[in-house]
Amino acid sequence: MKKYFSILCLLLSVKCFSQLNIVPMPIEIQKGKGEFLITSKTKISSNSLITQREYDLLNTLIKEVLGYKLDKSPNTVSSFESIPVKDSNLIILFKLPKNILINDEHYSLIVTKNQVRILYKTGAGVFYAIQTLKQLLSKSFEGKGIIPACFITDQARFKYRGMHLDVARHFYPVAFIKKYIDYLAAYKFNTFHWHLTDDQGWRIEIKKYPLLTQVGGFRNGTIIGRYPGKGNDSISYGGFYTQQQIKEVVQYAADRYIDVIPEIEMPGHASAAIAAYPQLSCFPEEDTKVLPSTPWAGSRKGKQVQQTWGVFEDVFAPTDYTFNFLQNVLDEVMPLFPSKYIHIGGDECPKESWKRSPFCQQLIAANNLKDEHGLQSYFIQRIEKYINSKGKKIIGWDEILEGGLAPNAAVMSWRGEEGGIEAAKQNHDVVMTPGSHCYLDHSQSKNEDSVTIGGYLPLEKVYSYEPVPAVLNAEQAKHILGAQGNVWTEYIKNTSKVEYMIFPRMMALSEVLWSPKEKRNWNDFEKRLPGVFKRLDREKTNYSKAYYDLQATVIPGANYDGVFWKLESKNTKDKIVYLLGDEDSRLNIYSEPIRPLLTNYECTAWIQSSDSKKIGNQLKQKFSFNKATGKKITIANEPSVSYPGDGAFTLVNGVQNEKGLSKGNEFLGFLGKDLDATIDLGAVMDIKKVTLHTLEQNGSWIYLPSKVEVTYLYSIDTGKNALLGPPDKILSVDVVQGKNISKIEIYGEQRCRYIRVVAKNYGIIPSGNPGAGNAAWLFADEIEVE
Ligand code: ACM
Repeated sequence: MKKYFSILCLLLSVKCFSQLNIVPMPIEIQKGKGEFLITSKTKISSNSLITQREYDLLNTLIKEVLGYKLDKSPNTVSSFESIPVKDSNLIILFKLPKNILINDEHYSLIVTKNQVRILYKTGAGVFYAIQTLKQLLSKSFEGKGIIPACFITDQARFKYRGMHLDVARHFYPVAFIKKYIDYLAAYKFNTFHWHLTDDQGWRIEIKKYPLLTQVGGFRNGTIIGRYPGKGNDSISYGGFYTQQQIKEVVQYAADRYIDVIPEIEMPGHASAAIAAYPQLSCFPEEDTKVLPSTPWAGSRKGKQVQQTWGVFEDVFAPTDYTFNFLQNVLDEVMPLFPSKYIHIGGDECPKESWKRSPFCQQLIAANNLKDEHGLQSYFIQRIEKYINSKGKKIIGWDEILEGGLAPNAAVMSWRGEEGGIEAAKQNHDVVMTPGSHCYLDHSQSKNEDSVTIGGYLPLEKVYSYEPVPAVLNAEQAKHILGAQGNVWTEYIKNTSKVEYMIFPRMMALSEVLWSPKEKRNWNDFEKRLPGVFKRLDREKTNYSKAYYDLQATVIPGANYDGVFWKLESKNTKDKIVYLLGDEDSRLNIYSEPIRPLLTNYECTAWIQSSDSKKIGNQLKQKFSFNKATGKKITIANEPSVSYPGDGAFTLVNGVQNEKGLSKGNEFLGFLGKDLDATIDLGAVMDIKKVTLHTLEQNGSWIYLPSKVEVTYLYSIDTGKNALLGPPDKILSVDVVQGKNISKIEIYGEQRCRYIRVVAKNYGIIPSGNPGAGNAAWLFADEIEVE
């Protein structure tokens, strides 16, 4: 086999001519001279190791592209050394022997004018070679079977390359699930995490418990618009997959070298199961708690499948009844999925019911558990033992670390990377899926028109993700199996929107997971993007064009002199134009950041073609100026990485949020922490009022601060050196929650230069509310000084 490597090395020295649009980027790719043309006379030759299936994989692709299949060549290749060099119009499938020391997913592809050679070791290898060939054949969809001459050698960086899909919040038919699997396969993902059960629907048939799908599979309605909702559509919604359909999907995925990991959520996110079998609850007789303000369809009595989003208190009771039920469910689930892992959820399990339940308290005492977190760990460990006894392993969201990790569990790190780091340090396997880089339900544009869950995750940020945290040593790093993109579907009602949310970000993630770290290069990826978009257009796949959107940022002026509106676009062909206010009738051509002049006027901008047509999105931005706008500001506590805004400047950028979380990037978000900001107004001046612009959305765990305190400073060393004016003063207001306000005003006439604003975080979310027991978020978008 030495020859294999020496031939590859020789070919590696082939001159590189130009770009080939392959995503994810292979380990090595060189473009040669000329092209191979597939005709109906082209033959497929192979060695004796290949299987009929591998041969069929190739011919299926040929048929898809050209409409006909190719015949086998009568001559077989006996050894690597004897591959016929002279024969032309041949595609050669050469399967390497098992004992060769290369990765199972490896393939090499050598295309000359005369031949295409595909070298691989396993079915997965030839499958990935064919996915690459399919991209190389792109031109062929417009005509003939043309493959550009090239040399490619390739294999995956990570062994876990996952995409997730939540079918509980919204349900998609089997045909689309197969299409989704095709998308994964095309970009060399190998794991489909199928989120099958949640509060809003149970989606997998369990023969022993028919009510799970008959009752738990349907809800009486769904909230309209963004949470908490502008009403309820009162339309019965639901569906489920039969076990036969599940088998069909699992086989379809296996044929594409994709492992399907089912998720059966426990102990939280259990409302649908409880609606079907109320005995699963700690309080079977109690009605499902629905806030009076929640738009609801149908009865509020008894146990209900949820019609709104969030986290709900009624969770599985850790009783023998529940464990017996879950084991019976798992007995039906496990044989359907050959996957080594069963995902047991474990996230966002409120502890309120367990705290109230005498049974749970007695269980905690009897088992010497520390508290309800110990009970969560007890719950997961009991399930793990059962799943392990059937020869499978559990994987769960990072909350399964709380109260002690089950001995053989793998962890999916979603609340940042900390859970994954901790698990890897404890020698547990980890899949990274932090919200900051892997949540494909977040907006990919700052100007997203459709409703999304909030958060901002542009293509470039997904591309920048590095799944192996630098803090891990080499041994610990081996536990990072890979990463996964998550697609939660509260605001993804149809399959077209699923496509819109995953493309093109899934392609960026594919490169994070497949390509060697040193090969990852954003500028190079950007150059391949137009080809990628063309392919999606040809396949009639919906995708986001946010990459080409006109992007606006508000930036500080030099020397704290006001703010500027900066406009950018990847479209370099056409001009950016703008109007400086509602009454500006003169169209300006953009050349440099604009200084908005008038307060409360809306600036408008768009891209305009040479024949005066508007291209893409139009941006509008209102500015509200005050004494603090653009001034120097420092903050004592950093905001969360999930809501970083543009740093402290966000609070004085002249932009007051008007669209809540739809414009989540306009806020700084502090999880459990106070806001502590000091503004230097640049000169001593008279102040009448300070206003903190904030957000109250308790259902999303966002609370008004409990108190806002303003300190007026004549000079920054608390006035000791002040020669003029009144002494420093502190004013504060206690904030009343639930009054539907978004600004907190502190009146007081003062002469000062510095203003310090401390907004006290609400603290722990009280019982009876979504997220009870967790730290509250404090959101702030602007500090206005008048
Ligand atoms: C999650 O996003 N709740 C895992």
